Amino acid sequence: MNPRQITNQIDLLGAIDWDRTVFDSLIPLPDGTTYNSYLLKGSEKTALIDTVEPGKAYVLMNQLTQVPEIDYIISLHAEQDHSGTIPLVLEQYPNAVVYTSQKEKLMLLDLLPGLNPDQIITVEDGEQLSLGDLTLKFIYTPWVHWPETMSAYLIEENILFSCDFFGAHLATSKMFADEDPLVLASNKLYYAQIMQPLRKFVSKNLEKLERYDIDMICPSHGPIYNIPEFILSAYDEWVNGTTKNVVMIPYVSMHNSTLRMVEYLMSSLCDRGIMVQPYNLEAADIGQLATCMIDASTIILASPTLLGNPHPLLANAISLTALVKPKAPFLGYIGSYGWGDTVSKKIAQMAAPLKKEVLPFVTAKGYPNEAAKQKLDDLAQLIFEKHTELGVLPK
Ligand code: FEO
Repeated sequence: MNPRQITNQIDLLGAIDWDRTVFDSLIPLPDGTTYNSYLLKGSEKTALIDTVEPGKAYVLMNQLTQVPEIDYIISLHAEQDHSGTIPLVLEQYPNAVVYTSQKEKLMLLDLLPGLNPDQIITVEDGEQLSLGDLTLKFIYTPWVHWPETMSAYLIEENILFSCDFFGAHLATSKMFADEDPLVLASNKLYYAQIMQPLRKFVSKNLEKLERYDIDMICPSHGPIYNIPEFILSAYDEWVNGTTKNVVMIPYVSMHNSTLRMVEYLMSSLCDRGIMVQPYNLEAADIGQLATCMIDASTIILASPTLLGNPHPLLANAISLTALVKPKAPFLGYIGSYGWGDTVSKKIAQMAAPLKKEVLPFVTAKGYPNEAAKQKLDDLAQLIFEKHTELGVLPK
């Protein structure tokens, strides 16, 4: 892909990674990703904002063959999908200097051995850098995604370069997001997996950005937001909005007993006007689970007993829930056992750190009998009452 013009003085560089399927050896990328770099051509100086994943360095370096000089490399985030090609860019432009935050300088020296510390200049929160007729203002936006993360604001054109913040793992040749619902779905998946666990920091950073007029947001993953309200209002909803009238049920079932309980509970919930979203943990990926956690008001864990313990797939889902820190206020457990309920106590211990209001657990010996079904109805009724108190049921 050749450089593409965004404005008279700004080009989009970087690489589209159509084939990448996983990030951080954890996060599924069903639609690939992009690593965006931005070239700013001021009247006096030229700056490159962020670089690309080292595996795609050849794409950026090929684009830069058309660029005679780079004075500044602006590094907004130390993670290697943005910083990893800095050494090669410095090799090609040995007089360039890197501008970054103080925290990031230390990280870059750890992560990119061989960098010359004298070639890295640190900037404070709010400091400005002139390119002649263009001025960048650095805005510290910590923890979106790492503690050193910052954004850069182009004062003359009201453009925010946000790096991971507002990103989307979406390989596409589409340069602008417009108001495309497919981009928004990708944004939500990205937020769910990467930003949701850091929600409190995201909220503070959104607040910090309120004082800026923003006409365009240029992230380092995915399309550019030519209609910033499109992504800003979505983030406001995901971060600060209430949960929805949704019960999420991550489940695993070995001989269908637990599955019958899940089906019965779902039917009982639906009878009460509550939306249900089951996830068979044999097939669901963490992206689907994390996305549902943005909206769910209640999480019901469902698993049979396996060697006296919850099924490992459910234990894994509980660990994921602890990492993601969903807003859902309520949590419960249902499941079957063969000869003794040894699991309830263990689930209660595992779920304690999630700090949720725990609803009564329902267990059954084998297939759910009438007594177990009554308890599932009682649980559905309790969830209805909790959702009513929360104000998430339709009026
Ligand atoms: Fe896109 Fe945190 O790296």
